[in-house]
Amino acid sequence: MADKMALKVGIIGGTGFDDPLILTDRQELNVPTPFGATSAPLINGTISGVPCVLLLRHGLKHEISPTHVPFRANIHALKSVGCTHLLATTACGSLREEIVPGEVLVVLDQFIDRTTKRHSTFYDGTTDIYEGVCHIPMAEPFCHHTRHILSQSCTQLGYKFLKTGTVVTIEGPRFSTKAESKLYQNWNCDVINMTTVPEVTLATELGMSYAALALPTDYDCWRDGTESVTVENVLKVLKVNGGKAKEVIVKSIENLKESDWLVVSENNRRKAVTSVM
Ligand code: ADE
Repeated sequence: MADKMALKVGIIGGTGFDDPLILTDRQELNVPTPFGATSAPLINGTISGVPCVLLLRHGLKHEISPTHVPFRANIHALKSVGCTHLLATTACGSLREEIVPGEVLVVLDQFIDRTTKRHSTFYDGTTDIYEGVCHIPMAEPFCHHTRHILSQSCTQLGYKFLKTGTVVTIEGPRFSTKAESKLYQNWNCDVINMTTVPEVTLATELGMSYAALALPTDYDCWRDGTESVTVENVLKVLKVNGGKAKEVIVKSIENLKESDWLVVSENNRRKAVTSVM
């Protein structure tokens, strides 16, 4: 039987996901990019024998605000070191009663973009690597097959989770008003965060399989009788439940290596290439 396609998994660690010890044979790597430095050095290593790279989205000391995350540098660097897949974690607020913070994980399948200050494409004419205009299809923003792996891993670990969910990504860094929070509920959003866009769109422009595991930490500010979101309550929930995201990511890497990703990767690559005019 022919060998499976070689995998390399980029892990983009969100708030509360900052443990390089999930990797063995660790090696720090500074990758220069046409878009400046990455959020932090890449940490190369392996998980269950699979080559992986960890990148802390908000920097080593969580010093980078959502608006200033160098999304293009991060995604370009992860692509340039050979990542075929990106698994991202993201703390988020819950916009639904049944998405209980700290208890229910969400495998994202759609987003609504409320960001205003970010570079959302590689193809803006500022580099000669990415020439032309890219109209990347975004009907299904996340890799369906990789999302399935996240869901499978949640099931195997016995965690409560939703296999679909719409995230509204806001610009931040402030949290929402009650009026905004209720508006997003009326738009049928399930969770709210500050980083999924443009991370997923940029990964798609480069033909990578991107999936995101959302870890709800709070009920934002829509819920009567519950304290509105604060940094303090986000961190408190992450401290107790952040380990779940880590376990799901590690399990997902074990699961990823069971499949041959050749066809999926080729389809992603073709989608990316044919979107450039
Ligand atoms: N991250 C965690 N909780 C959040 C919230 N309520 N809004 C935006 N981003 C968040």
